[in-house]
Amino acid sequence: MKAVLVEKFDCIENIVIKDVAKPDLSTGMVRVRIQAAAVGFVDGLKVQGLYQTKDPLPFTPGSEFAGIVDEAAADVGGLAPGTPVIGMVRNGGLAEYICAQAQDLFVTPKGIAPEVGASFFANYLTALYALSARAKLQGGETLLVLGAAGGVGIAAVQVGKLLGARVIAAASTEEKRQFAIKYGADAGVDYTHEGWRDELKGLTGGHGADVIYDPVGGDLSLQAFRSIAWNGRHLVIGFASGIIPALRFNLPLLKGGALLGVDLAQIGRREPDVRDQVIAQLFGWLSKKTLVPVVGKVFAFEEFHDAFKAMTTRSALGKMVVRIG
Ligand SMILES: NC(=O)c1ccc[n+]([C@@H]2O[C@H](COP(=O)([O-])OP(=O)(O)OC[C@H]3O[C@@H](n4cnc5c(N)ncnc54)[C@H](OP(=O)(O)O)[C@@H]3O)[C@@H](O)[C@H]2O)c1
Repeated sequence: MKAVLVEKFDCIENIVIKDVAKPDLSTGMVRVRIQAAAVGFVDGLKVQGLYQTKDPLPFTPGSEFAGIVDEAAADVGGLAPGTPVIGMVRNGGLAEYICAQAQDLFVTPKGIAPEVGASFFANYLTALYALSARAKLQGGETLLVLGAAGGVGIAAVQVGKLLGARVIAAASTEEKRQFAIKYGADAGVDYTHEGWRDELKGLTGGHGADVIYDPVGGDLSLQAFRSIAWNGRHLVIGFASGIIPALRFNLPLLKGGALLGVDLAQIGRREPDVRDQVIAQLFGWLSKKTLVPVVGKVFAFEEFHDAFKAMTTRSALGKMVVRIG
């Protein structure tokens, strides 16, 4: 089978598709024929060896995919060959086949295209877990989403609206702000302008943001925290800017605000019940089409480099997806 193979940590241009053995089944595993895989910001870092944890070499990047069950191990029930599934794994998605633990696979609701299934899981799970379980976002509150047109950002815009918040989308270009507005944001602000906090103040009648969803980091995080409402919650999602900010402790004191960390990788182990509730709510929304996940751009398998490049050049709108097979 064909798979993107990282044999040494390198720039994306040097990573190629290779012929590798089709993965063997073992106990508790299911082999899936992949139809689409998503590329996230973290995948780009992992390929280059720049992520905080390093996958053992060689590896195939891609932690989210959608496909069809090819074969399930004898001890696995409920996932017969031909069943459409969505999966979230550590890596291996950018390949024609993958063997995944049955517990990491979810039956795709009817009518959901593989591209949509592949772009759904991580970003929307992060958004709903962060906004509901961590920040306890209430209907009528103001949610400020930084990097609002990116993969996790646009998911937070949509989920924030579904939870009844007023959503303000902060992004660097008019195209990105309009993209966020198209998917439900009530207003946009250009956070590359020095006066953006005044604009935010105007948009919230001086109140500030009750919840800040922050996948960007850097100085922008510090500026955003200064605009938090009393009893506000600032969700630490990631550092797409490449800079981890250092917040002085007097600011939460003066602002009456809280800093809340979110790590998707740990939810299943630390809060399995909460994770299951969040997943059930997401799949409910997906089945009823209350939530239609945003597929940013779809690339052919051979063009997978371009999906990575869109992330590293800050040009991606929504999630980048690679069609396989
Ligand atoms: N905590 C968790 O569990 C969790 C889960 C998923 C992802 N994440 C993290 O969330 C972050 C964003 O991931 P993503 O997949 O949404 O990425 P993405 O689609 O590339 O979006 C990131 C956004 O950050 C902004 N940005 C600001 N400075 C940037 C820079 N120097 N380079 C690139 N983007 C920059 C861009 O918006 P503007 O151009 O509008 O500024 C961009 O749209 C990553 O750090 C990722 O690790 C965390």
